[in-house]
Order: sequence, then structure tokens, then C-alpha cells
Amino acid sequence: MRIAIGSDHGGYNLKEEIKLFLRENGYDFKDYGTFDTKSCDYPDNAFKVAQAVVTEECDKGIIVCGTGIGVSIAANKVSGIRAALCSDTFSARAAREHNDANILTLGERVVGKGLALEIVRVWLTSSFLGGRHKKRVDKITLLEQR
Ligand code: RB5
Repeated sequence: MRIAIGSDHGGYNLKEEIKLFLRENGYDFKDYGTFDTKSCDYPDNAFKVAQAVVTEECDKGIIVCGTGIGVSIAANKVSGIRAALCSDTFSARAAREHNDANILTLGERVVGKGLALEIVRVWLTSSFLGGRHKKRVDKITLLEQR
């Protein structure tokens, strides 16, 4: 599985921690920036990660900003993206099992490193359950086409 990862300056440090986690756990990933803590605009790299996922250059994406909110709003503007902002592991599992979220967003200023990495672990190892949840996700896809 190849993961697209990105952040703004507010999420840079956590993005780097997540990269270490991914490397240690054998995940392939591509970093779409930012590459330092210099101030930048969160929609830019959120869009790059979202594009990587919808074009299937990568299978899933993880984006970090200060709160996780801005990158989530931005990524969800891209057709085919279901970005889920998670600050707990229950939501991370449900985001995959129920919503088939293809992007996880996190807030570096909201969750500590330990919890953030556990959220990443749970999100990456949970699978979409399909069934009644598929019918609902399909309705979201239909909304995108209106
Ligand atoms: C940057 O200061 C901050 O606004 C950004 O990282 C993010 O939290 C936006 O939603």
C-alpha cells in the first residue's frame, strides 16, 4: 500500500513523525510537502495529496495541519475524496469501516504524538465493511455528480 502524505507548517512535525512510523512499519509513502516549518497555505498540499489519491498514484492519504480542519475541508472539495478528521481511535476505525475514508486528517496542535500514531495505525489496518455502508457511501458519490 502506498500512502500520500502532506501537511502545512502547522502539521510539519507530526507529518515527520508519521513518516518514521510508516517507514518502521513497512509502508511505502510519498511526501507531498511541506518540507519545513515556514508558513504556507494548507489547501495547496492538501490538494496535492487528494490528487495523488484520486489519480490512484497512491492508495490512501494522510494530511496534517494545526487542527486537521483546514486540510479536511480542502481535500473534501476534490471529487472522489472522503477525508476524515480523527482525534480518537474509535472514529479512525469507523472512518474506514463505515465511511471508506480514503484520506485521514490530523491536527498536530490537537492530538499528541502517541495518540496520533495510534490513530494512524488503526486507520491503516481497518477495512471498509461494505453492505449497508456501501449503499450510503454510494449516495455520497451520487451527490458529487449532481
Ligand atoms: C495554520 O496556522 C493553521 O491555520 C492551519 O494549520 C490549520 O489549523 C487550518 O485549518
